[in-house]
Amino acid sequence: MAVPMNTTYRTAQLVPLFMRMLEKCKLTKDETLIVVADPDTNQEYAAAMMAAGRSFEADVMTLLLPPPPPEQAAFIRTGNISSTIVANSKMALEYLKMADFVVDMTSIGLLHTKEQVKVLEAGTRMLMVHDPPEVLERLFPQDEDKVRVQKHAARMRKAKTIRLESDNGTDAWFDMEGQPVIEQWGWTDEPGRWDHWPGAFQYTAPTENVGEGVIVIDPGDIWYPPKRYITSPVTMTFEKGAAVKIEGGVDATMINEYIAGWQDPEGYMMSHLGWGTHKRGLWNAILFQDPLDIIGQDGRTAWGNTLFALGSNVTFGGTRTTGCHQDFALKNHRFYLDDELIADCGEIIPDYLND
Ligand SMILES: [Fe+2]
Repeated sequence: MAVPMNTTYRTAQLVPLFMRMLEKCKLTKDETLIVVADPDTNQEYAAAMMAAGRSFEADVMTLLLPPPPPEQAAFIRTGNISSTIVANSKMALEYLKMADFVVDMTSIGLLHTKEQVKVLEAGTRMLMVHDPPEVLERLFPQDEDKVRVQKHAARMRKAKTIRLESDNGTDAWFDMEGQPVIEQWGWTDEPGRWDHWPGAFQYTAPTENVGEGVIVIDPGDIWYPPKRYITSPVTMTFEKGAAVKIEGGVDATMINEYIAGWQDPEGYMMSHLGWGTHKRGLWNAILFQDPLDIIGQDGRTAWGNTLFALGSNVTFGGTRTTGCHQDFALKNHRFYLDDELIADCGEIIPDYLND
């Protein structure tokens, strides 16, 4: 159970921090800003963001939506699922599309929803904010993070295939020819662009129904959305871009049961695949964090890791809209673009991608 942390002192800390971010996002007094929230949102965050927005003399409002209906699957209300919160409100969707800027402070996050795609297509820029102040400050995005992500993403766009290897048995490939490469560097200042504070990484949504091999998730790798370290090897066998077997000990059983709980075969499909480029992301951070406080970007974006996901990919240019989405951050993997080794167990190999 999380320790209640909301205090007026912390709000006083958050307002200038959020002002720094809105400055980075180039909010102006001529713009409209909606802070979207729900009853499980950290209300202190929503209030502090509203105050920060007002300091820019922007047209600011908080949109508080009812919670979504209960899911008939186990889930955690901090990211990684496709929330129905906006799908259930036509009015909310229209408001979000009208805004210049939406700060997503919903407890689950709108990231994996069809509605987010519609909001972005309307030209609204969106930023997800959820993580604790310590994380937001430590990983506060710098201009150099963006430069680095764009450099790595440019390399990724030239690739046709991705191959993964590890000493513990991973040997798999996926196709990415013509697929989009998504960049996250932690802020957004362009119409129609989404980002998540914090983060610095790039990834693709591999070609659907293509990709074969075995990925062995090692003890110490991170499983999201539970935000916990895997304790025993999990062997995933992929055929035609889908995990057709997930084998191992209790972790494999829990992953299988989590996917099965959503009763949607899309939960087994490869979603996104990339590597981390955040120099300040800490692999061990979630060991000391409460899963309910975090989305958990430290492990996802840590320098030179490998990150893959199963499930929904609709916000990455794909067709899968299942509520089920899981990320797996792999610490000791080798990530190849075509035949070039890019990331190797926490290191970036090519000189031209190091700085
Ligand atoms: Fe993901």
